[in-house]
Amino acid sequence: MNHLIAPSILSADFANLKEDILMLNNSEADWIHVDVMDGLFVPNISFGFPVMAAVKNYALKPLDVHLMIVDPDRYLEAFKTAGANVITVHYEACTHLDRTVHKIKELGCKAGVALNPHTPVSLLENVIEEIDMVLIMSVNPGFGGQKFIQNTYNKIQELRAMANEKNPSLLIEVDGGVSSHNSLALLKAGANVLVAGNAIFGADDPVHAISEMKKLSPD
Ligand code: DX5
Ligand code: ZN
Repeated sequence: MNHLIAPSILSADFANLKEDILMLNNSEADWIHVDVMDGLFVPNISFGFPVMAAVKNYALKPLDVHLMIVDPDRYLEAFKTAGANVITVHYEACTHLDRTVHKIKELGCKAGVALNPHTPVSLLENVIEEIDMVLIMSVNPGFGGQKFIQNTYNKIQELRAMANEKNPSLLIEVDGGVSSHNSLALLKAGANVLVAGNAIFGADDPVHAISEMKKLSPD
């Protein structure tokens, strides 16, 4: 499978969000990554339904919604209504992860599970066959523009090995500090969805930055 690029609008210009969405529509981006933070699960608050619905009004690409919120079950339906196509919840935020994953799928969305940097991949052993995607956090979630954590490579390799056995079509998304410096190595380790905020929106030419990431070839 060709890898996917999911620019994170956390690094977009919120006063000109429409322009940034139109830019993404005209780029080689595959998904639009939407970071929702509640100030409890992570020490930051980003944005909620009204902003997401406004994005959906213009977006021509699927919305990849990363929920950094406690007890996400409370809001799954509302995120679907606001336009989510992929919904990713954190392993650390779900008491009944299997139930949460099934709810997401019943809503007609792809279901993802995110792991914080300290959370071992092995904890997914009993749910990996049920999910469409695992999001490996390569920074501690909460903010854009942080430094990439090197141990991420080991986690991606371990997860890809587990997926080869139990769920070969699993998407492995990596999020945090992804840039032109590490994208190819991440794809080679087994990731196939790259999230990037600063590396895209901080570039002089974001459309070009996206296309450079898209044309990398891990083989
Ligand atoms: C961090 C978010 C990321 C963030 C990535 O909590 O989940 O999606 O926006 O931003 P960069 O690519 O700048 O690290
Ligand atoms: Zn994210």
